[in-house]
Amino acid sequence: VAAPRVLSGIQPTADSFHLGNYLGALRQWVALQETHDAFYCVVDLHAITVEHDPAALRRRTRVSAAQLLAMGVDPDRSTLFVQSQVPEHAELAWVLSCLTGFGEASRMTQFKDKAAKQGASAASVGLFTYPILQAADILLYSPEPGAAKPGTGERTGERTGEQAFHVPVGEDQRQHVELTRDLAGRFNHRFGTTFVEPEAYIPRGAAKITDLQDPTSKMSKSASSPQGIIDVLEEPGPMRKKIMRAVTDTGTEVRFDEENKAGVSNLLRIHSALSGDTVADLEARYAGSGYGQFKKDLAELVTGTFTPIRERTLKLLDDEDALDRILAHGAARAGEVAARTMDVVRDRVGF
Ligand code: ADP
Ligand code: NA
Repeated sequence: VAAPRVLSGIQPTADSFHLGNYLGALRQWVALQETHDAFYCVVDLHAITVEHDPAALRRRTRVSAAQLLAMGVDPDRSTLFVQSQVPEHAELAWVLSCLTGFGEASRMTQFKDKAAKQGASAASVGLFTYPILQAADILLYSPEPGAAKPGTGERTGERTGEQAFHVPVGEDQRQHVELTRDLAGRFNHRFGTTFVEPEAYIPRGAAKITDLQDPTSKMSKSASSPQGIIDVLEEPGPMRKKIMRAVTDTGTEVRFDEENKAGVSNLLRIHSALSGDTVADLEARYAGSGYGQFKKDLAELVTGTFTPIRERTLKLLDDEDALDRILAHGAARAGEVAARTMDVVRDRVGF
């Protein structure tokens, strides 16, 4: 039985990923390589759903890919690529958009949230149809999309159904995976079984990280203040300072209590995720020692994790040609799978 396939993407919308991205998603990408046939994608088509600067997008796409490699995504074991280099993403999105009800698309809560921030009339149609493009990103890599010979109508090789299909998601993306499953089912029903309905998959050890200054809201590129967010590519000095100044509470006890000690609980979560020690072990270790020593040790842990990642990223960015070759290789591999899927889709749709 083939290893389950996994597809995941991340937007190149910043000059660095942050600690929340790392502990909530990207570290799991690296771990999933052990058990999965992985496709990882820097989704630059998604990044133009809001107003953008072309030079910044180009830079962020490269720096995002370099960080993923530096974190341990291995281009020999996984398929790492840039979405715009595989044109089938946009093509399948069009087909799927013709299967999506306007009312159905209108119910996507993430669009409502994002559009509300911009003023509803300023939001683009691309932002509205973003979840359909996301469905295409996923379904292009559906295992065994039938084996129809294009133009012949001949259906050789039905799926054996042996390869599972996983999409790692945070809670905020659940609705989009549901839409993807609905679209896969609808396509299969209308045109013949083609896609595996992907399963939302919450990887082990994924942690939700909150803002260091506002520990009841999520650490976020768009909403956190500079003091509330730790960038993966930040220098160790400022990183250490931010942790030492992280908001805690007026108590002294290093104890996990989401409701009354949200700040300390967040720091415990970060420590536990990076060290592998359980929260209970950490509470016992720091009993009576106050917040200072705990924060100092946590700062060591965070800088120790990210310093080698920063150094490897900078090295990868130094050799543009080598990075381009890695991404071209990934795009070629992804493109092969995507082209095979689209052959079947085109044939079944009647193109
Ligand atoms: P997108 O807009 O593509 O969701 P984000 O930058 O919001 O991009 O998130 C990228 C990934 O990082 C997603 O998988 C998201 O769930 C995860 N993520 C973002 N912020 C956090 C956080 N504070 N804690 C845990 N995971 C996070
Ligand atoms: Na976001």
